[in-house]
Amino acid sequence: MTFGGPRVILAPMSDASARVLTGIQPSGTIHLGNYFGAIAQCIALQNEFPGESFFFIADYHALTTIHDGDRLRELVRELAVTYLACGIDPDKAILYRQSDVPEVTELTWLLSTVTGMGLLERAHSYKDKVAHGIKPSAGLFFYPALMAADILMPRSTLVPVGKDQVQHVEMAQDMATHFNERFAGGAPVLVRPEARLSKAAYVPGTDGKKMSKSYGNTIPLFESGKRLKKIVGQVVTDSTNLGDPLDAATCNVFALLKLFADEGELERIEGWYRAGKREDAPFGYGHAKQLLAAHIEQFFAPARARYEHLTAHPEEVEAVLQRSATRAREVAQKTLYDCRRACGLV
Ligand code: ADP
Ligand code: TRP
Repeated sequence: MTFGGPRVILAPMSDASARVLTGIQPSGTIHLGNYFGAIAQCIALQNEFPGESFFFIADYHALTTIHDGDRLRELVRELAVTYLACGIDPDKAILYRQSDVPEVTELTWLLSTVTGMGLLERAHSYKDKVAHGIKPSAGLFFYPALMAADILMPRSTLVPVGKDQVQHVEMAQDMATHFNERFAGGAPVLVRPEARLSKAAYVPGTDGKKMSKSYGNTIPLFESGKRLKKIVGQVVTDSTNLGDPLDAATCNVFALLKLFADEGELERIEGWYRAGKREDAPFGYGHAKQLLAAHIEQFFAPARARYEHLTAHPEEVEAVLQRSATRAREVAQKTLYDCRRACGLV
């Protein structure tokens, strides 16, 4: 790790042939929720998982929502830079761009032939999107098959995901089983993956709801100075007067401070909340927000420096992506060859 952060405790794992894989959609500026909910686990996995770690930028998936090439390129670049800046180490993990491994689209087709329409029609995420008025493309409907191909391609054994994605991993399990039964007489050409539900911190946004790009309530990772203070200043609090006791348990600022401060400091801050003062001076939400902004700025300072360096040197980022894509393609071609053989295409 390049800088301190929450450690993710993993159950003991010993199988060096195990492979962990997770994908991230390049869909907007990365925020504290993404860091504590996803990036921190990837960093823990690259350090603690005994087998190979595959982390990829799901740009094919993003085409279901982004139809502006320049914007997509920019989002992919920003996500790659963010991951590397936060501590993904290309010597420990494979960080690749999905579209650099086009084999995945062929596997998607092979899987489509063993996937019932009913299975795809049951996808919660698809149904939710349609219920919210999105006019679905065939690609959106077919999204779980592409996701299954992402997972099955490197024969991943473990797939860390948020709650909303567990059903997609279960679909990948079904597709692997159906493929093996139909084409390979049950031989394990494709490996059934297991989902691991991320036990990550739930990060509230500035309005107290879940922090999310879709709600416009995010705190980006790499803001600093006045702009960061301004965003942190927008975190919603109640209207208790300065000097009166405050309730830390229900305070959004305190919930965010918990991500950064150690236990000793949190106890001290909780005392200031209860008393409504710090030593002899009154203590209010404004002071708590100052502490929070200082913590965010300090915590991400090393990552911000690397972010700025990598942003100024896109060739370094591209070199990492290319090197990783070479390894990912090697693995993909091996799986695809086995699948083609099983189907009678070789
Ligand atoms: P967003 O809601 O901003 O669109 P995504 O759905 O793209 O974020 O999520 C990317 C990853 O970040 C997922 O693993 C998700 O679980 C995690 N994540 C996003 N927001 C939060 C949050 N507020 N708290 C914890 N994890 C989050
Ligand atoms: N569908 C995931 C999301 O929206 C991203 C993703 C694509 C993914 N392919 C994957 C996650 C394979 C895990 C494994 O968050």
